[in-house]
Amino acid sequence: MYMSYYDQIIESTEYLKKRIEAKHLPEVAVVLGSGLGTFTEKIEISHRIPYSAIPHFPPATVKGHEGALIFGTIEGKKIVAQAGRYHFYEGYNMKEVTLPIRVFKYLGAKVLLIASAVGGIHADYEAGDVTIVNDHINLHHENPLQGPNDERLGVRFPDMTDAYSPRLIAMAHNIASAQKIVLHNSVYGGLPGPNLETKAEYNYLNIIGATVVGMSTVPEIIVAQHSGLESCVLTAVTNKCFPISAIKEVTHDEVIEVAQKTETKISTIVKEMIKRI
Ligand code: HPA
Repeated sequence: MYMSYYDQIIESTEYLKKRIEAKHLPEVAVVLGSGLGTFTEKIEISHRIPYSAIPHFPPATVKGHEGALIFGTIEGKKIVAQAGRYHFYEGYNMKEVTLPIRVFKYLGAKVLLIASAVGGIHADYEAGDVTIVNDHINLHHENPLQGPNDERLGVRFPDMTDAYSPRLIAMAHNIASAQKIVLHNSVYGGLPGPNLETKAEYNYLNIIGATVVGMSTVPEIIVAQHSGLESCVLTAVTNKCFPISAIKEVTHDEVIEVAQKTETKISTIVKEMIKRI
């Protein structure tokens, strides 16, 4: 039987509300992309609900990604963490990719924090650096808001001027400087992937004003903005892509090493942000 996207969102939300007690409903949602995988260790977990149990949540396809929503507290704040993300390149459609964001909103979350791995396309960014996204350039050919607009979910033409919360950006900088963590401001160029970019594409991204590039985040932020969630994105630069002469092939071990280095920094910032939100 046909069920509208709105009804699917409500059904997923109602299922989760039945599984968790009202006292565990989250204030903050955290999307754990690459660069924040071990963040779950910081959560005092109350419920771990696999995607396979949640109505309308597609199964997770990426090996090593757990595919679960984790409910609990950090510093006494109620959170939900999305462990295992849906990427467009895996074959999910844009509405599937962004379903968890809709559900976080209906569970009552007010704030969305996202961590993602990116390529650095600013001459000053090195592998292992951490950035906070100030803005994005959407280079996806599909949009999660495409199709008839359901006014219950948001307006037809959402404003994107403050999609990256100035309040949360300021808060993150404040925390980073207190912790002596270098935190760059970035502009996220969002591409569908899954291939990495050509040299000409990295150069193009630099010319148009992007300073990091990645294959996620942008659809989620568009939906968060449509939903009225206050959002913030931290990125881990895993590979240097600019200037073109600085691009070199990296081994998997190097990538892991870089990811671990950034993980500590991102995790410190996110934990403190949750405390202050
Ligand atoms: N391009 C796109 N996405 C990425 C990259 C990259 O170079 N590195 C990590 N995620």
